[in-house]
Amino acid sequence: MRVGFYQYKPVFGKVSKNLKKVVSVLSNIEADLIVLPELAFTGYYFRDRKEVLQHAEDPTKSSSIDSLIALCREKKFYLVSGFTEKRKDKCFNSSVLIGPEGLIHLYRKLHLFNTEKNCFDEGDTPLQVNTVMDCKIGMMICFDWVFAEVSRNLALQGADIICHPSNLVLSYCQQTMLTRSLENRVFSITANRTGLEKRPHGELKFTGKSQIVAPNGDLLYRAASQRENIYIMDIDPSNAR
Ligand code: ACM
Repeated sequence: MRVGFYQYKPVFGKVSKNLKKVVSVLSNIEADLIVLPELAFTGYYFRDRKEVLQHAEDPTKSSSIDSLIALCREKKFYLVSGFTEKRKDKCFNSSVLIGPEGLIHLYRKLHLFNTEKNCFDEGDTPLQVNTVMDCKIGMMICFDWVFAEVSRNLALQGADIICHPSNLVLSYCQQTMLTRSLENRVFSITANRTGLEKRPHGELKFTGKSQIVAPNGDLLYRAASQRENIYIMDIDPSNAR
């Protein structure tokens, strides 16, 4: 199975620009499963809920999701992507699993990090594993990594690969994910973003170093901190069983 990630720097608030860039890069690759960062099309550092609601989309009526599904059909691959979700008056930091057949699963981040609590509702969807291409895929989002129970829950459901869209600002996660993979015997793909996001209320620098880890804890590949990078490699999901 050819799996990978796209590490890049979304421009805050420019959803169609970011989407266009992702679609253009992914149009040129051959893969089975690609993981994109957390909040992949809006950027991360929202001021408040009001600002989230200005940029978020309802995935059932989203032109972004529709174009990603069209891309999956054309390329015959699957995508896991962070997604800024609006549902009525609620907003969630979500992740979607999308394929040629459409939107397969949506997960809403359980463990909101720091000021995210002022911007998003707490996740209300259970952790879940879905089978695509005979491979069991689980999703968790960024700060979920801190809580060992999240990876364990996905592993107990039989996950072969934990897909982990992220916008990491601290430096501990990448090393910890080696242990999450080892203690649960799963592959993990952490897709982080790069770059500095400057907003009127402050700025954040993201740590990059997106990575793919084997079920024995081996680091199979790690990107640089501040360089955009699309990376794809062959793995054998049965090594996670
Ligand atoms: C994070 O959960 N975005 C650090």
